[in-house]
Amino acid sequence: VDEVRDGRFQARIDRDEKIEPNDWMPEKYRRTLIRQISQHAHSEIIGMLPEGNWITRAPSLKRKAALLAKVQDEGGHGLYLYSAAETLGISREEMNEQLNTGKARYSSIFNYPTLTWADIGMVGWLVDGAAIMNQIPLCRTSYGPYARAMVRICKEESFHQRQGYEIVMTLARGTADQKAMAQDALNRWWWPALMMFGPPDAESLHTDQNMAWRIKRFSNDELRQKFIDATVPQGHFLGLEFPDKDLAFDEATGHWRFGAIDWDEFKRVLAGEGPCNRQRLAQRNRSHEAGAWVREAALAHAKKRAARRLA
Ligand code: 3HC
Repeated sequence: VDEVRDGRFQARIDRDEKIEPNDWMPEKYRRTLIRQISQHAHSEIIGMLPEGNWITRAPSLKRKAALLAKVQDEGGHGLYLYSAAETLGISREEMNEQLNTGKARYSSIFNYPTLTWADIGMVGWLVDGAAIMNQIPLCRTSYGPYARAMVRICKEESFHQRQGYEIVMTLARGTADQKAMAQDALNRWWWPALMMFGPPDAESLHTDQNMAWRIKRFSNDELRQKFIDATVPQGHFLGLEFPDKDLAFDEATGHWRFGAIDWDEFKRVLAGEGPCNRQRLAQRNRSHEAGAWVREAALAHAKKRAARRLA
């Protein structure tokens, strides 16, 4: 019976139909979506920490207002994605517990420190730029609630990327010290940004199955290459150099060839040994505890309103 149902399910996927919460789906499809969507949501929430670090120190009111809006957007992206994950049968409390106890993964990139204001430019230009490359195909992912969440998120992500690039442009066209600050930040953020796309296809656990189920539309290496091809000219336009001596444009393929990525560093960060893993988790737990009264008040208020409606 399962083969018949699996076959019918695959035929729906192959017809590019959207799978909705109440549709039958293979348990493994449900599990891998809970895995990916919850990790995506965790990434958005943890991503607020390195950026939030500079709200009080932004160099002008305009920069502070843009950064405030961006961090608020990231929180909202997290909530859309937690809601999409909940449609698959996992509760918000369970996802909170998985993140706060260090059980859950979130994007490696947020375990790096934002040391100078130029880092905030790099987070917008490179991290949100990479996120856009990865998230635009996800607008066509086969699971309906995830695809619809992505459409809203991608609209806001482009503002994030543009304000980041504008920060870097201002610095690159500023004083020698400002340009040096932008170059230093590029040197520190370039390789970790490439790791956001995941391990090489040959070592990816989920790519084959997730592409067959049209959860993933492009492989990790394809999206990484797309990001590099789009981003290198943007950096050169600003007179910045990329920290990769093997970076060279290949006329024959039309792609930028790039050097070897340090996958040992990637594995260390995923194992919790990155520069800021412990700090991020500690800060996340402090925020969760500090926000307990808001959750209690909201639940008490909702109970009272429900009781009034019943009265
Ligand atoms: N950081 C942490 N873990 C990573 C990772 C990364 N950069 N890349 C891969 N992994 C993990 C995977 O989760 C998987 O582990 P798991 O089985 O325990 O979940 C393992 O490494 C093997 O990788 P795979 O390639 O097999 O895993 P996927 O097929 O899931 O591909 C992915 C990884 C491309 C990140 C995919 O999960 C994805 O597209 N996720 C949705 C997008 C996303 O999460 N982006 C992260 C950044 S969000 C963001 O930047 C917000 C922006 O507003 C700033």
